Amino acid sequence: MYDSILNRKNILITGGTGSFGYQILKELSNYKPKSIVIFSRDEDKQNTMKQELREQKISKITKFVIGDVRDYDSLYTVCKNIDIVFHAAALKQVPTVELYPFEAVKTNILGSHNVVKASIARGVKHVVAVSTDKAVKPVNAMGMTKALQEKIFRSDQYEKNNTIFCSVRYGNVLGSRGSVIPLWDKKIENGQPLPVTHSEMTRFLLTLHDAIQLVFYAVKNAKGGEIFVKKAPSAKIVDLAKAYAELVTKKKNYPIEYVGIRPGEKIHELLISEEEMRFAIEKKDHYIIKKEEYEFDKNSAKKKIRFNEYSSGAVKFMSIEELKDIMKHLSWVV
Ligand SMILES: NC(=O)c1ccc[n+]([C@@H]2O[C@H](COP(=O)([O-])OP(=O)(O)OC[C@H]3O[C@@H](n4cnc5c(N)ncnc54)[C@H](OP(=O)(O)O)[C@@H]3O)[C@@H](O)[C@H]2O)c1
Repeated sequence: MYDSILNRKNILITGGTGSFGYQILKELSNYKPKSIVIFSRDEDKQNTMKQELREQKISKITKFVIGDVRDYDSLYTVCKNIDIVFHAAALKQVPTVELYPFEAVKTNILGSHNVVKASIARGVKHVVAVSTDKAVKPVNAMGMTKALQEKIFRSDQYEKNNTIFCSVRYGNVLGSRGSVIPLWDKKIENGQPLPVTHSEMTRFLLTLHDAIQLVFYAVKNAKGGEIFVKKAPSAKIVDLAKAYAELVTKKKNYPIEYVGIRPGEKIHELLISEEEMRFAIEKKDHYIIKKEEYEFDKNSAKKKIRFNEYSSGAVKFMSIEELKDIMKHLSWVV
């Protein structure tokens, strides 16, 4: 489906040893890229990934490079001859970033700026940044830095060049690293109740496969500055916990303990704000938020603004049975 865009291309994945990186490598093995470069800081994670790839065909074209997105020179070096950059490197955990917000400024904001500058300097054709629903009307430092990452990726500052920048935005990835599943596993192992923040809390959910398909779609269809948003089902976190416990223990009514909302958490997440809906085009499976013009939009004065925000609290929630069904088909990454 994406052969024309991915075959014979040199591809760079920043943050390639994370959950996103593992899945994108798996999906790229269905195509014929010329080369793949994994760029990240920790050699242990790279070694583990190398071991896991050893048996696979894709290992022959995959190269591992140690580097930090905070460092422009290492990005400039690694971007040589690259056609497509998937920018996934980030500090992404809300509680950590609440404690160390400036570390996320350095990685998520300055790092993204370095990715943009190095891509332009090296004449990369397509650059896709991975963003999150937490960047919409952000209340936590992680979301704030990702909101600025999105702004950098659609800034007019870089308009006069041949590199096409865009972002993809999605909600919680089921089973990705840093998810709540390892904690729930431990609780089940010890026969303890599953901790859930609040009975009303909801989240948009998607699989890594869907996330990667969105990224490929973005490379194929971006003209510059768009944010591609996947339409996604939403669920109450308490139902997710119940579904998971039922799957693991094969019993219904596993006990739940409500532990309260953490700093920086919302009850519901937004994938598109009311303001952004004015610029959003709806497609079958996703929305495309076009880049705003930084002038008065004369047409908008006469238009009735009739759009609502796209909130995880205002869509149909998945049932426990539906959640179990999705989770059954996932291999969990911790
Ligand atoms: N997982 C989700 O639920 C979710 C939802 C929406 C959006 N996203 C976004 O998707 C992207 C990928 O997430 P993920 O789940 O794959 O995260 P992950 O598993 O935590 O992986 C993060 C990757 O980034 C690398 N990294 C971190 N800081 C770096 C730096 N300064 N320079 C270079 N590499 C760095 C890490 O390797 P080293 O530590 O070795 O450097 C690792 O390879 C992130 O941008 C995240 O915000 C994730």
